[in-house]
Amino acid sequence: MCGIVGYIGARQAQPILYNCLAKLEYRGYDSCGIAISNENLSIYKDTLNINELAKIVPILQGTTGIGHSRWATCGEPSICNAHPHYDCTGKFAVVHNGIIHNYEILKKQLIAEGHHFISSVDTEVIPHLIEKYYKGNLEEALEEALHNIVGSYAIATITSGENKLVAARKDSPLIIGVGESERFVASDVMAMLDYTNRIVHLEENEIGIITDSNVKIKHKGSYIQRKEHKIEWNSNATGKMGFEHYMLKEIYEQPRIIGDTLKTDYRNIKQIVSSQVVKDKEIAPLLILACGSSYHAGLVGKYIFEMTLGISVRVEFASEFNYYGHIPTKTRAIVITQSGETADTLKAVRKLRQAGCYVLAITNVIGSSVTHIASETIYTHAGCEISVAATKSFIAELAVLYRIAMLCADKRLEIADILAGAKQIADKGRGILDETDGIKELGEYLAGYNTVFYIGRGINYPIALEGALKLKEISYIHAEGYAAGEMKHGPFALLSPVTPVVAIVARDNTYEAMINNIREVKTRKVPVIALMEEDDDVVRGIADFVINIPCVNPIFSPMVNVVALQLLAYYAARKRGCAIDFPRNLAKSVTVE
Ligand code: F6R
Repeated sequence: MCGIVGYIGARQAQPILYNCLAKLEYRGYDSCGIAISNENLSIYKDTLNINELAKIVPILQGTTGIGHSRWATCGEPSICNAHPHYDCTGKFAVVHNGIIHNYEILKKQLIAEGHHFISSVDTEVIPHLIEKYYKGNLEEALEEALHNIVGSYAIATITSGENKLVAARKDSPLIIGVGESERFVASDVMAMLDYTNRIVHLEENEIGIITDSNVKIKHKGSYIQRKEHKIEWNSNATGKMGFEHYMLKEIYEQPRIIGDTLKTDYRNIKQIVSSQVVKDKEIAPLLILACGSSYHAGLVGKYIFEMTLGISVRVEFASEFNYYGHIPTKTRAIVITQSGETADTLKAVRKLRQAGCYVLAITNVIGSSVTHIASETIYTHAGCEISVAATKSFIAELAVLYRIAMLCADKRLEIADILAGAKQIADKGRGILDETDGIKELGEYLAGYNTVFYIGRGINYPIALEGALKLKEISYIHAEGYAAGEMKHGPFALLSPVTPVVAIVARDNTYEAMINNIREVKTRKVPVIALMEEDDDVVRGIADFVINIPCVNPIFSPMVNVVALQLLAYYAARKRGCAIDFPRNLAKSVTVE
């Protein structure tokens, strides 16, 4: 998704802007551009990647600038539609993430007033509005412009007339970075980690006025104080550390993440969860909302909480929840979002908060938008995830959900004992990663097929969904995840020797039923790959291929099974020569509905 960067300081801005933009490449983009302010503004943009753009742009002198990588949503990818956008005089340049809902009306008015537009995108109204309102002070002109705008935005703007960077945000992230005699802005902290880990958050409806030595924040016309804080991530997180792909590196980080999360002393978590999440359990089920892989983590959470805390849990896609009206009295919710920026999830949080509900957010990104609007936040400690396909963030979300159950189930001793076993899971996960040859072979085998089904039951049903999602998004093989019992109710019609089935078998109360499902599938001469505990000779006898999974208490089986399925998808995609880290048509955070 679109990325914003900005620099003001003692150094030349141009190479810094390129480097900052390159750090956001992982989010996906189809065009990019920069603007540098000196006596005049120099603006260059194209439908190229950042490296290619850098090759065609001359060396520009200037220590203040903004840059943008665009993922087209309003207006096709083209040079005119790329950012930065500028006004008629070429004095104001703007980069923007978000959507301006009333831009057509504004554009008509501005054209009637004599403004000339060259693009078909909403953003272009902003520099024209700034031009219209400018009386020698950029932040005042931007403030005035924003009064006209209906929609969401993160904006960074510069002018050739003043040596400052002005930024604003509403419903779209923007962070200010603080260095020695230099300041940065970015829509994603990754952009600036090579230069600083000291950040100042811009909150909703605030304007940041930034010089090389100062950050002033304005809210509704008054200046307010905001402390800076340090973030833990560093720029090493953006390297592949010798792995061929970020996805593989991130898969291999998972045992550490499980270990760290299960050890984390989540201050107040127990109190929060028992007083907010578990309370009123007789009145309304706990609601879990999320999208994509985070939704699958939420589904696993349902099984964990229902089994260990004795509460009922309802899990919904945030994108669906937003379109029906009913919120039962005393609803309390957990939202799960790696990025903290998924538009549908944020919309669901706002809807719940407006209805007076308590919302606990689980997110990986410090200071992300969800943290500003949820009642409370628990951070996962996955570190920066670059590969578009979620792997380590998914495992971290699961680990937090297990951790919540561990902290809150203390009165139920038997369960507490079981949950204590979670501590070995990191080692079991490592076991899978030490022996990947078999999974690699099977991944390469799947690469030759066009359709694959994943089946599981109980707590591993969401893992079937997640396994299928991983395969389809990175290898482009059509994959479907099913609750194994549902196969007979339709999908069976599709089974044949060219539709392999990946069956996840856990030794819990679903075991016998899964064995029967594999036998049924085998009657259609379907090749079956079974994920099974390493000492399970029954499954070994009926499946065509097996992936050996270390024995764990079945409640934790999702954490080990998913690691094997991530690798299976990875090796299938690798065999097919796919762009594993940056799959076509996908972006790391989905900031539009
Ligand atoms: C799949 C994937 C997506 C995300 C989804 C939600 O590998 O990465 O399905 O899980 O877009 O994103 P977050 O968790 O950032 O809200």
